Amino acid sequence: MLKARDAVHNLPTYHPPLGGRAGLRLDFNENTVGCSPRVLARLRELSAEEIACYPERQPVEAVVAKHLGINPDELLLSNGVDEAIHLLCETFLEPGDEALIVVPTFAMYEISAAATGARVISVPAGDNFRFPASNLLARINPRTRLIAVANPNNPTGAVAEPAELLEIARRAPEAAVLVDEAYFEFYGKTLLAQRRNLPNLFVARTFSKAYGMAGLRVGVLAGNISQISLVRRVSSPYNVNGVALACLPAALEDDDYVCRYVAQVRQGREELQQEFSHWGLPYWPSQANFLLANFGPLKTAFIQSMRARGVLVRDRSRDPGCQNCVRITLGTTEQTARLLKALRETLAEIGATKPGAQEVARK
Ligand SMILES: Cc1ncc(COP(=O)(O)O)c(C=O)c1O
Repeated sequence: MLKARDAVHNLPTYHPPLGGRAGLRLDFNENTVGCSPRVLARLRELSAEEIACYPERQPVEAVVAKHLGINPDELLLSNGVDEAIHLLCETFLEPGDEALIVVPTFAMYEISAAATGARVISVPAGDNFRFPASNLLARINPRTRLIAVANPNNPTGAVAEPAELLEIARRAPEAAVLVDEAYFEFYGKTLLAQRRNLPNLFVARTFSKAYGMAGLRVGVLAGNISQISLVRRVSSPYNVNGVALACLPAALEDDDYVCRYVAQVRQGREELQQEFSHWGLPYWPSQANFLLANFGPLKTAFIQSMRARGVLVRDRSRDPGCQNCVRITLGTTEQTARLLKALRETLAEIGATKPGAQEVARK
């Protein structure tokens, strides 16, 4: 019988619950209203010839590089950040190498690293999901070849200080250090400017979140020219499809669209935090487009009742340290109003303590 490599047999499986997602989608951290109308207009005018041709990544890389203020050879466009993670692992990890991650975090770091046969070392986040900089530094050794940090982190929304990340990159010169800035637009801080000082630093960005293009699958991996050229060797020349490449410049031209959306998300994040405080529900302040909160024994009833009201939220109970936690994505102002209404009704229905009756348990 055909047998896959042992590393593949031993992989954890990742089954995002994508089925039956009718309703207000606050479960996947996507843009809840979709991409800019300019992207849709470009999509509609695609010609048969454009679809017939193999996609040309390079001219669009030049456009994205200009947008980011870096050189085109300092970045690689990828099939989402998912593929950037995969390519990094394929480029730098040998079986038996070590990959360091902080948990809880985005699932694909572990899967892509473990698939190469590398050993994944999980460093638990500190109290209140604080970034465990010193524990991470303590685990660096000569076998460490990859360190992946989501900043802001998913599912917690927590961030690491730039100085902490830079220290990690300095102390692990033999490791590719990935700072995954998938939620950059909601946070505003980046390590991109450090790519020339630290040749082992990689920064990832995505068009799946603020830009509302998750279905098109485009991400960016940026870093030092010589390291990016190595990753480029591993990549297929056609890794990003022609439809996505055709639409990307249109998305970048509409900065206003993204800014307006991000402003609404940030405002909604504040309102939801206040609401959690009001109900005495522990939550973790977030710099991303979502909030994680602990619903205790009411968790399952909460998720089901919200679904019955047409609002999808994500159960994160299985993530390390996240027992009874639910992650809720923020969207537009109108959607936040709908979310808060459903949340109040649901909490009342499932017997949560009445507003104001409980001391605020803000974490
Ligand atoms: C931290 C992080 N990185 C990457 C991704 C995936 O991004 P993409 O859609 O570009 O593959 C996600 C999606 O949830 C994420 O949370």
